[in-house]
Order: sequence, then structure tokens, then C-alpha cells
Amino acid sequence: EQRGGGHTPGLNFDRVQPNTLDAVVVPKGYEQAIVIRWGDPVLPGAPKFDFDKQTAAAQAKQFGFNNDFAALMPLPGDNQLLVTNHEYTSENFMFKGYSSANPTREQAEIGWAAHGLSVVEVEPVRRSGALRPVIGRYNRRITMTTPFRITGPAAGSDLLKTSADPTGTVALGTLNNCAGGVTPWGTILSGEENFNQYWANAGQTPEPVKSRAVRYGVTTGATARKWERFDKRFDMLQEPNEVNRFGYVIELDPNDPDSTPVKHTALGRFKHECANIRVARDGRVVAYSGDDERFEYLYKFVSKNKMRPGNSKAARRYNMTLLDEGTLYVARFTGDSPASEIDGTGKLPSDKRFDGSGEWIPLASGNRSFVPGMTAEEVYVFTRLAGDKVGATKMDRPEDVQASPKTGKVYVALSNNVERGVTPGKESATEINPRNNNKHGHVLELTEHDPLSLRFDWWLFMVCGDPNSPDTYFAGFPKDQVSPITSPDNVAFDQYGNLWIATDSANALGINDGLYGVPVDGPQRGNLKLFLTVPRGGETCGPIVQERVVTVCVQHPGEVDGANADNPVSHWPDGGASQPRPAVVAVWKPGRHGPDRIGS
Ligand code: FEO
Ligand code: CA
Ligand code: CA
Ligand code: CA
Repeated sequence: EQRGGGHTPGLNFDRVQPNTLDAVVVPKGYEQAIVIRWGDPVLPGAPKFDFDKQTAAAQAKQFGFNNDFAALMPLPGDNQLLVTNHEYTSENFMFKGYSSANPTREQAEIGWAAHGLSVVEVEPVRRSGALRPVIGRYNRRITMTTPFRITGPAAGSDLLKTSADPTGTVALGTLNNCAGGVTPWGTILSGEENFNQYWANAGQTPEPVKSRAVRYGVTTGATARKWERFDKRFDMLQEPNEVNRFGYVIELDPNDPDSTPVKHTALGRFKHECANIRVARDGRVVAYSGDDERFEYLYKFVSKNKMRPGNSKAARRYNMTLLDEGTLYVARFTGDSPASEIDGTGKLPSDKRFDGSGEWIPLASGNRSFVPGMTAEEVYVFTRLAGDKVGATKMDRPEDVQASPKTGKVYVALSNNVERGVTPGKESATEINPRNNNKHGHVLELTEHDPLSLRFDWWLFMVCGDPNSPDTYFAGFPKDQVSPITSPDNVAFDQYGNLWIATDSANALGINDGLYGVPVDGPQRGNLKLFLTVPRGGETCGPIVQERVVTVCVQHPGEVDGANADNPVSHWPDGGASQPRPAVVAVWKPGRHGPDRIGS
């Protein structure tokens, strides 16, 4: 069957060849420009970035570090609001001579200000696809000191009370915001992912605090950044519940710069990669979220109430309560091939498909728990333990989840899991996670009859890696024609219904991370094409594929083993002898009267 060479709207570009360059590489004929980079001004009065003299006060007004998720929200007129997550800080790349044993208070406070989110107005640059930041009235920095309202059924729980907040309803800051989602009502969802790394001394806490913290991987002794020396809330011995206030999906209304963002407890507490919304026919909303760690679970939330149409401020206020009442589910997958045919090498079973069915198992709804031995509050705050009890399926690092706006099928990036079938005591390959020592990950396609369905069918759309390797699968497309890919992370759809996949950790194939496009339907289904690559040591995040501009976040450029601010191996994006800086990049195809359509 010859399926190559076809015309696929949105994906007609010359594929980029995998490389290890210190550059963003785009298809022939395309152009690129930096939108904003770490340290650029966001708020009025932000000082010019000075790598050697950075301060916490400056950082609080500047673009944060390690941009991951990005969204572009329309404003009246041509301008847009760029909203980005700042997932984490890499102090040894932010400070020359950085001592991890003895960080300074100023360095810790710079770290607090470099986390969180940025909201930045951007204007189009005439006749190009470039976007220029504006110090506009919506601009905002969310940092580790920004108040959040804790909402949903666990708000006010004893598990969330601290000495600074005896109400258990107001948390300061957000941490490790990885991917996210744009809601149909015009707000931003953002997942607090690896929050565990910021809390110290879990190993010395009494039970049950200790085993609950350990289940989330909270640091047993001192943390890498030593923040516990500068604020007791990061010390579990002094504030055992502060950590319980992180690990949620947050929601921010970027159109209301004075609004208080919220943390939604009803979506559970785990290492939320993201949250993405679908609306059911009756107006109820469904949120999907992965818990990104090896052998963790995939979740779905179904709201009790219906979305109010429009995006007036009143509608947004109401719709921001939708994720506070509903039912939280976790996924259980069953393969349809005999277990004896799944040998852990990635060899297809005799039906030539890794596929099967599955169900969403309820964990809690409002104040009602469905998990034996756990209260509803415990389910929301220690959701991993609830998943364990109901026999949820252990996955290979569930990352981003996105439903196709064309077909309604749901795509889940499963990044990798080098412990499957390798680490003693850990689960071996099953049909849904069919490779042991899964270095390259896979992409799952879920078919739900409608968004409210509690049963689904599934099929592995792609088993990633080197197409020349027999353990890879590209929806059955001829493998001599596709681009190599490893460690799928963020996923997005373009207006034509093509799936775009950004990767994290392509060094597993000896290449730089990148952004790929692939049709999920029609004769080209599975024809994966590499659209761009990011500099060595960087990760590709936050892809936004608009009609005429693709926007990506380049996270941690130059972070390879042995490199640091005293020995930088990347000088992207500023060139010369400069330090690498995480940045947002816009890519477009110049045309006669401005940018052409992407992939046209
Ligand atoms: Fe922060 Fe799951 O990637
Ligand atoms: Ca099968
Ligand atoms: Ca991610
Ligand atoms: Ca990742």
C-alpha cells in the first residue's frame, strides 16, 4: 500500500531533519522570531534583564524561567494575550558559581519569583508572523507569593490547614506548572506537576503523614533548592499540611487581571500534567488529566453543572465553578489480545493492534467517596492512594491529553517508562503499555461514545522510537516515510484536525527535541512529520498551532550533563557568549501579503 506523497492540509512542508544544532530549525521557507524570553519585561517598571545582577524584585516583574505550557487568547482587535507556565527553575543555569549546598536567600526568592505564570499582551508585527510583547493592562505575573483560593469539596479540610492559613482555603503560589489547557469559557487551566521536590524532611514526619508524602515522592531529607531554610512552609516537620495545598489543577482568568486564581480540589491531587476540557451535548464539561510519573494513572472529571454560554465576565465567573462539583474517575484498561502475545518487545500481537476496551472508575463525587476506607476529602487530597485501591491501570507516564475537535477521539501522550519490566517489583508490559524498558513512549487513542461515557475503546496510535526499529508503529503507515520520535509530551490540534506532538527527552534517540505534525484520519493517518527542532538540551513545549503562526516554548535550552552557567554549551537565543535563556518562539511561512497558512 503506497500512501506517501499525499496532500494533507496543514502538513505540507518539507520535513526538518533530526539534528543536534544549537538553534531552532524550521522547514525550508519558514521564518522564526523570539516572542519573549526569560527576564524580558512583563510588568511596568521591570528593569532590563542583567544575568549577573538578577534580583527577586526584578524577576517578579519579568518573564519567568522554563516556560512550558503556552496559550494565545484573543483580545478585541489584533492583539492577543500570551499565557505561559513557568514550570521550574534551574539554579545552576541561572547563577554563575551557584552552590547547591549553600544557596542564598536572594537566590531562593528569585526562584520563587521565576516560577508561576506570565500573562503578556502581544501584538502582531506587520506583514509577518512575529509577535511583539506589549506592557498592557492585562499583563500579570503569578509567583510563589500570589494568593490562590482553594475551591471544591476539599477546601477548608483539616488536611489543608496550616499555621498561616487556619481556614484551609487560601494558598500562596503555584509550583511546577507543566502543561495546561484553554477552557471554552476563556480561562486557563494549568497543572501543578512535580510539587513533591520543593518540600523537605518527609522522612521524619509521623504516620500517616509520612507514607502519604512518600507515595507522592516528597523529599525525605533536605531538598535540592533548600527553600526550607528560607520559609518554614517548605519544611514538613514544621508545616505538615502545606504540601497538601499543591498538586492541583489551577484556573486563571487572564481577562481579569485583578481576579484571584483558584485551585480545584475536585480534580484530585497528583502530578497533574495538564487539564483539557470537552463539553458534552447537554453542556456538562469533562476534564482529562494525566499523572505524569512512571506507573501512574489517567483521570477524568465530569461536572455536575452545565456550562453557561458566552464569555462575559459573569459567564466566566460561573463557569469557573464547574470544576468544583462533579465526579472524579480513574482509568482501567483491558487489552483484547492474549497476555501470552504481549512479550514486552513491542511486537504486535496476532490481531496486529495494541487495542482493547476500558472503563472510568468513580473515585468520589462531592462529599461521597466510592473508595473503601477513604473519605471523600482523602480521595481528593491523596488521589494516588485512591487509584491504588480501585485497581487503576499503571501507565507509562501520562502526559498531555487532548480531544480531536473533528472526531472527538481523545489522544494521550505516554512519555516513556524505563522501569517497566526492569525494576524489580514493578509491573511488566501489558497490551496498553506494551514495551518493557519503554524508552520512547507511545500515543494512545481513546474512543468514547460521547464525553460522558464511562466505557471506551482504545488503540495505540503510535509506538514511538526509531522507525527503523521493529518495536515502533505509526498507525500502520509505511515506516520508511515517517520521522523518528521519542518521548511524546504535549499534544495539540490544528484547525484541520491534525495532531501536533512536542517531545521531551529526544536525546534518547541522540537528537534534539522537536514538534511534529501527524494526520489522525484518512489515507495519511500516521504519516508523522518533523516540523521544528529546538536547541540542544532544550525541550519543546506549549505548541499552539494557529492558522498562520506556530508558537512553541523552548524550555531549558542547553541543559545537558556537565553544563551550567559557568560552562554554557548553548548560547541560544541571544548568540555570542551569552547564557541560554528559555523563550517563546513564533514560526511562520512568509507570503506575498503576510504569512501564508501553516502547511499550505
Ligand atoms: Fe513537566 Fe510531564 O512534563
Ligand atoms: Ca489487540
Ligand atoms: Ca510536560
Ligand atoms: Ca515532560
